[in-house]
Amino acid sequence: MISHTNKVRTDPAGAEPDKPARRPDLSDRRLLAWVTILGLALLFYLAAKPGLPDAWQRPGSEILQPLAALGAALLLAPFLFSLGKRGGHSKAPNRLFILHVGASLLGMFLVALHAAAAIKGPPLALVGLLILLAVTGVVARVHISSRMAATFARKPAPFQAADPAVKARLREVIDAKTALLKRLDPQASEALFSPTLKHFLGAPLKSLAYARLARREAQLMGARGSVHWLQAWWRPVHMALAWLFLAGLILHVVLVTLFAGYVADGREIYWWHLAAW
Ligand code: HEM
Repeated sequence: MISHTNKVRTDPAGAEPDKPARRPDLSDRRLLAWVTILGLALLFYLAAKPGLPDAWQRPGSEILQPLAALGAALLLAPFLFSLGKRGGHSKAPNRLFILHVGASLLGMFLVALHAAAAIKGPPLALVGLLILLAVTGVVARVHISSRMAATFARKPAPFQAADPAVKARLREVIDAKTALLKRLDPQASEALFSPTLKHFLGAPLKSLAYARLARREAQLMGARGSVHWLQAWWRPVHMALAWLFLAGLILHVVLVTLFAGYVADGREIYWWHLAAW
């Protein structure tokens, strides 16, 4: 179980302890309760479905299509939270994270209702991607966050037995970063800085060049190789799945909304659409 409690610093002289910044937390128990309730509701829907009216039988019906649209909007929310975090706008990143998990869960439930009405066709690939996204998210939450906590303040392996050639190359990369940072954000310190959305919008080329140098630095230090493979890879995998999901979702919505004739393939177009190409 992982519980990120906020430690309260106590003054040795016995004065008032410092107030911890309010960081809302998402306990594993609460997360499990949400997942269980939504899972049971979905099973209940599947069991009751044969006796339900027509509007609950087809994914594009007047009830299930709007629910899918709402669910998809909720599933897109994590992309916005990610921008918010990267934009440096969040004073309480935990709150954004809880919204990310809550919106994803509710969104998944709504699109699962929509998809369960048919359980067939190419859009099932979207369901598969959603399941993989949820699995990688849960693995990160349960197995990796404790490993990550242990990684901080630890020296990556190459530093313990430094190769002089690698060290010299690293020096060059850090010098290049420092020189570039003077032009990108003169107040910032190279050791602490990562470009945020503001930098990418204001100076995209310099920010990209900086991000490339930072990646090169991490490669030279063997950052990925020095931690467990799950910790090194879950985030790029989770993000790649998320982008694939987004592309698939856009394709599905464009097809059913504008190319309804192609999707119906001779059947009646019973759902709301804008064009029947
Ligand atoms: C993650 C989100 C979504 C998933 C997983 C999903 C999944 C599915 C699945 C499995 C089907 C059945 C395909 C078939 O019968 O061949 C379907 C059909 C459909 N979906 Fe989605 N969908 C999603 C989002 C949306 C959204 C946002 C809309 C809103 C425009 C939408 C509109 C439709 C329509 C109109 C149909 C009926 C097409 C037909 O009967 O052939 N879907 N969807």
